Amino acid sequence: MATLPTSDRLLLGPGPSPVSARVMQALAAPARSHLDPDVLDLLDDVRGMLGRVFQAPDGNLSIAVSGTGTAAMDAAAMNLIEPGMTVLAIVTGYFGERLAQVFARSGAYVERLHVEWGRSVDPALVERALIDARFDVVAMVHGETSTGVRNPVEAIAPIVRRREALFVVDAVTSLGTIPVDVSAWDADIVYACGQKGLGAPPGLSPITVSPRARHASPTCHSYACDFDLLEAFWVRRQYHHTISSPLVYALHTALTELFEEGLEARWARHQAAHDALVAGLAGVGLELFADPPHRLISLNAVRIPPGLDEKAVRARLLTTHGIEIGAGLGPLAGRIWRIGLMGSGATLANVDRVVSALAEALGRKRPK
Ligand SMILES: Cc1ncc(COP(=O)(O)O)c(C=O)c1O
Repeated sequence: MATLPTSDRLLLGPGPSPVSARVMQALAAPARSHLDPDVLDLLDDVRGMLGRVFQAPDGNLSIAVSGTGTAAMDAAAMNLIEPGMTVLAIVTGYFGERLAQVFARSGAYVERLHVEWGRSVDPALVERALIDARFDVVAMVHGETSTGVRNPVEAIAPIVRRREALFVVDAVTSLGTIPVDVSAWDADIVYACGQKGLGAPPGLSPITVSPRARHASPTCHSYACDFDLLEAFWVRRQYHHTISSPLVYALHTALTELFEEGLEARWARHQAAHDALVAGLAGVGLELFADPPHRLISLNAVRIPPGLDEKAVRARLLTTHGIEIGAGLGPLAGRIWRIGLMGSGATLANVDRVVSALAEALGRKRPK
């Protein structure tokens, strides 16, 4: 029989990120049902805090769907799409491609705007695509976790609005680590996850929906993620599904921690951790995959030196140093490692640990 883990692991992969002791303790608060007044009061707070972390306008529905980031992706597509609607999916990596596939499964006609992996999308290309054809929806990933690239959502948003398309943004690896400004973007659906920048365990995924998006399609083809039914539960307290109360405790606590720190201070902490990592890696002869203007500070894609047994390095980090980092996905497998510095994991002490561990595993000396 397998046993529960007893030793700590420093989670510096692409997610999940570390969960603070306070959030872990919240999971163990006394059990309540999903319709208990205590839980419903916590949900009210969570809605309010999610609206603030997304910087969403007042009229938006801001809730969390039960499930991980992929469930939130599904929720976006299933609620927006009527068969035959057209979607422009901006694909700059693995998760942009997943977004395209999710929309195609919902019955949309999906056209992909492909961008070389490792680069961000040029807003002029989006403008061109929207001049060449009419799309009902434009969907894109803000922080592309497979390549460590941040896409310029702020520059693309006004282009999409001018063309009167609905705008869907995946903020799974950006929310809580860099600014996500749903009001400024005037975006229609923006979703994230609990387990990265917010520092909660996986299982509840924040999503914010504009009134415009709520009217886009008369029927949602999923019961589980129907926004009207979810609103009836979250706002009017009618049973829809058995939300996990321990996960509600954890998300509530993680968001409380976030606002105790402050959004600006949190973004600055993530930037400082990223800067220290880049400098530390340079000291041991390692460099990032994405160019500086495109870099996603929360997820650092590191070029693997040629001729190295990269799996052995990751295994040494895990078994000798207790540190998890991620492998490359798809065409980047074997070419990059992915080091996430998110939520409570984004600290200078953690940067120091991972750089020292990499230096040891690679047999390189850190400069004094
Ligand atoms: C940008 C992005 N979107 C979506 C997902 C899917 O999220 P999940 O694994 O929580 O289902 C991920 C997961 O890493 C991601 O990085």
